[in-house]
Amino acid sequence: MNQFISVGDVPSVPRIVETALDYKKNPFKDKGLGENKTLGMIFLNPSLRTRLSTQVAARNLGMEVVVFNIDKEGWALEMNDGVVMNGNTTEHVKEAAAVMGQYFDIMAIRTFPGLKNKEEDYTEKYINQFIKYAGRPIVSLESATLHPLQSLTDVITIKERWQQPRKPKVVMTWAPHVKALPQAVPNSFAEWMNAWDEVDFVITHPEGYELDPKFAGQAPVIYNQEEALEGADFVYVKNWSNYNDYGKITCTDESWMITNERLRNTNNASVMHCLPVRRNVVIADEVLDGPQSIVIPQAGNRVWAAQAVLSEILKHQ
Ligand code: CP
Repeated sequence: MNQFISVGDVPSVPRIVETALDYKKNPFKDKGLGENKTLGMIFLNPSLRTRLSTQVAARNLGMEVVVFNIDKEGWALEMNDGVVMNGNTTEHVKEAAAVMGQYFDIMAIRTFPGLKNKEEDYTEKYINQFIKYAGRPIVSLESATLHPLQSLTDVITIKERWQQPRKPKVVMTWAPHVKALPQAVPNSFAEWMNAWDEVDFVITHPEGYELDPKFAGQAPVIYNQEEALEGADFVYVKNWSNYNDYGKITCTDESWMITNERLRNTNNASVMHCLPVRRNVVIADEVLDGPQSIVIPQAGNRVWAAQAVLSEILKHQ
């Protein structure tokens, strides 16, 4: 593997899940793999889990890690080619990415969408400029449209918890939010669920909140949340802003918040969320603090996902 931007970069989902779960049992078994190698983590946006879990993962593999909050500590970056740089940007990504590529063996980038220009966001202009100019393997720490480290974590979490011979029913549900959020997590979760042949996957959201069909694929979409949740084994909760009326909030229906009552007809479903989560807006306290929530162990698994990804890249360097 020489980059990790989407599920398409992974030769085998079951194999990388197995690698991650092996690291969970024995975190330091490949301590020598990253010796004398440096991971550069470049942030254009905030993070708690992705930043910390990837640092821990890299260190478990013996790597050095440098974290650079380029949005706050670096020069203002120009991302467009061929522009006259007589405005507010100081350094072109052509030089910035290429220079960082001189310092690091692997580069990991977090860059959110602007949610103003669908075409710009969905062509993944920012992360693609790093891929083009860094000359090093690039790992997405969440890009404009996808969050593959989160989704690999989610697959690992479902895999380790599901012990029955039948496929689990996994329902991804939209939930309300006060801010317009990216579609990256739900796009990515749908993409990974569709690529992984071990679940029955259903999506539920208000009408009009359809995701890009490229990621939603053939997954059934049910507009009635209660109906969709019936018999669910896992409920994956996430808000996203409208993809069609791009970046807008077109539904504020609070009844989509996940409560114990909403989970009543599930199969005692485990409740997942990528975090951070707004309590009593997206998911009620009673659920997050109750026995069905697995959001903390889910976040814990971020380490093993990142470690599996970094190890696959290191093995091919
Ligand atoms: N889930 C997730 O990516 O969390 P952070 O934004 O805190 O990294």
